[in-house]
Amino acid sequence: MSDVQKNIVGRRTIYRFIEKEVENKHLEIAFEAARFAPSHKHTNPWKFYVMGPETRNLLMPVVEQLSRKKCIDNNLEINDEILKRARNKILKAPALVAVTTSLSPNDLFREEEDYAASVCAIHNFILSLWGQGIGCQWSTGSITRHQIIYDSLGISHEKERIIGLLKIGYPEKIPEPKKKELSQIRFYLD
Ligand SMILES: Cc1cc2nc3c(=O)[nH]c(=O)nc-3n(C[C@H](O)[C@H](O)[C@H](O)COP(=O)(O)O)c2cc1C
Repeated sequence: MSDVQKNIVGRRTIYRFIEKEVENKHLEIAFEAARFAPSHKHTNPWKFYVMGPETRNLLMPVVEQLSRKKCIDNNLEINDEILKRARNKILKAPALVAVTTSLSPNDLFREEEDYAASVCAIHNFILSLWGQGIGCQWSTGSITRHQIIYDSLGISHEKERIIGLLKIGYPEKIPEPKKKELSQIRFYLD
């Protein structure tokens, strides 16, 4: 297997990280990989926002509010431990990066192609980190659709859309893959 193939098939979403800082030099290598993603008409529609402690703290009131709502919706008791866990998912991620794709309300085909290109950029970024021994959880939880995160990043939801919040760190545990068999996804036709 080539190194590229090993990196692609070995990558897993990482949900738990060890307490170790992710240095910016590793993120920079991954941003460089993201920069080289394909995009039709060279629109390069992606942007990556690295969220430091102050930016993350701005989200806390809404993180708590969403966590309370989730408990109520699922008939669970709200307690401090649940709220702390919700806060820590954002505050304790060794690195946290929000990714956006640019919007084209007057050209929905362009917007769809740009979304596809931005997804390629995200995956380039994630695979580059993985090749450096760093894991990532791509999340599209409700916080990514809330106005507060747009405000915290200083961006307009009319111009760009957040398509992922990436929690990044050194893996504590690498989960087993759950994938379809090749025969279920690949078809040679006459
Ligand atoms: C567009 C997209 C959105 C995702 N959103 C979430 C999410 O909100 N929460 C989460 O835990 N994982 C999320 N994931 C990660 C998937 O759950 C994960 O890719 C899937 O379980 C397959 O595991 P693997 O990445 O290890 O192959 C997302 C992945 C993608 C591509």
